[in-house]
Amino acid sequence: MTHLLSDLRAAIGDAHVLTDPADLSPYAADWRGAYRGTPLAVVRPASTSEVAEVVRLAHAAGVAIVPQGGNTGMCGGAIPSGDGSQLVLSLGRLRQVREVDAAGGTITVEAGVILADVQAAAQAVDRLFPLSLGAEGSCTVGGNIATNAGGTAVLRYGMMRSLVLGLEVVLPDGRVWDGLRSLRKDNTGYDLTQLFIGAEGTLGIVTAAVLTLHPATPARATAWVALPSVAAAATLLPLLREYAAERLTTWELVSRPALELVLAAGLADPLASDAEWFGLIEIAGPAGASVDDDLERALAAAVEAGLVLDAAVAGSPAQRSGLWALRERVSEAQESLGPTIKHDVSVPITSLDDLVARLGPALESALPGIRPIVYGHVGDGNLHYNLSRPASLSGDHFVAQAAMLSTIVHDCTVELGGSISAEHGLGSGKAAAAAAYKSDVEVDLMRAVKNALDPAGLMNPGKVLAPD
Ligand code: FAD
Ligand code: MLT
Ligand code: ZN
Repeated sequence: MTHLLSDLRAAIGDAHVLTDPADLSPYAADWRGAYRGTPLAVVRPASTSEVAEVVRLAHAAGVAIVPQGGNTGMCGGAIPSGDGSQLVLSLGRLRQVREVDAAGGTITVEAGVILADVQAAAQAVDRLFPLSLGAEGSCTVGGNIATNAGGTAVLRYGMMRSLVLGLEVVLPDGRVWDGLRSLRKDNTGYDLTQLFIGAEGTLGIVTAAVLTLHPATPARATAWVALPSVAAAATLLPLLREYAAERLTTWELVSRPALELVLAAGLADPLASDAEWFGLIEIAGPAGASVDDDLERALAAAVEAGLVLDAAVAGSPAQRSGLWALRERVSEAQESLGPTIKHDVSVPITSLDDLVARLGPALESALPGIRPIVYGHVGDGNLHYNLSRPASLSGDHFVAQAAMLSTIVHDCTVELGGSISAEHGLGSGKAAAAAAYKSDVEVDLMRAVKNALDPAGLMNPGKVLAPD
């Protein structure tokens, strides 16, 4: 091991091979402190060739690698095991925007570029990079690709996999695959680009990507609405589309307990409504687009149909940010209640109501006083059905019941034809659960892919596919 560490130091410089426990600690746990590990070392290469050299050395030494971007992930994918045997490879120094092609509608960036910086680089040439999520100020493009991130504009633009045209990947043996193409059409065999997207670092390390840019949407109309029910939220989607068509960008849901958390954290309530469910709507278009009219007409029709009880429309950029914060700050605000047991489920949108109606009573009878904090991307049929402890129960006792509680949530989701991970991925936290709901055929195929690309099993082991 000493030999490997000295080779790594020779390859990327002493300052970028961290072994001191104080230096390791920011990389050893996720942002919530829900997953903790012990890195053998943290390596911080600065270029694709340095990443390749690190991987080659680790492969020769039989040492496993855990890629890490912004460490904002939800299921422990970027955290090493606890036995001190795995290297964390941070992509944080691969920060170059290599090319912006406004005419061709592409941007080529390195894996460690922060998502907000990609958005800003697109905006600088009057284009839009539409992936948007609460962690955009700290998550990285590499992490977004590895988790196939979703967020609040999926309804219109799709998930990360629909925004990636090409990739550069360091393979588990240290070879580099240069797939940095910007083609919209390329039917030359298996789609390797898509294979690496959503693989959570288990098939290779993404070092750069060609991403799609969209036309800018400076005209934005945003509303916060009070809803009579979850069923109304589902019914509202086609109605909103009738008025806004493809300009409907965001349709998000927030339950009253979730709203109360962000209000307690200091945000202002735009509606003094006693409703149990709320939503955030955004319609966006090019300069001069009639988005305000579209929103107004859609809301009038929704009120008329009894689908919306009350609405507040943003009249300024500051008000718009205020409405967005009511949705985007929930995740962070929930941490004030102690450890969160997170669920990131999706069902057909017409089954959301059923899911919520079944889970509340089932969880309450399993653990009286449990506090579900429910919110999410209702337009995508994706709910964050996150659980906080009963006030009388300690965090440790609550977390000890996670498997039992998650089984209730996941069983019900799967019975309704849903998925136990809509956007966060599996990491180490949900790998075993996912395998339990997949057929043997599907698990076999996944293992075959893993074994073909990483026969030594050194690339983020234990993530996505639980150990046998
Ligand atoms: P990390 O957490 O560092 O890593 C995530 C996974 O990707 C790990 O398995 C890691 O090994 C792998 N990985 C990282 N970089 C690479 C690379 N270059 N090559 C190969 N593998 C790599 N997610 C959503 O999808 N939608 C949301 O709406 C959303 N909202 C969030 C809100 C908040 C407040 C927070 C804190 C997080 C949210 N997330 C959301 C989760 C998280 O931000 C995303 O999963 C994000 O894509 C992770 O990016 P990261 O750079 O932090 O990756
Ligand atoms: C979000 O959409 O805010 C996050 O993905 C949800 C979460 O933190 O569980
Ligand atoms: Zn989400």
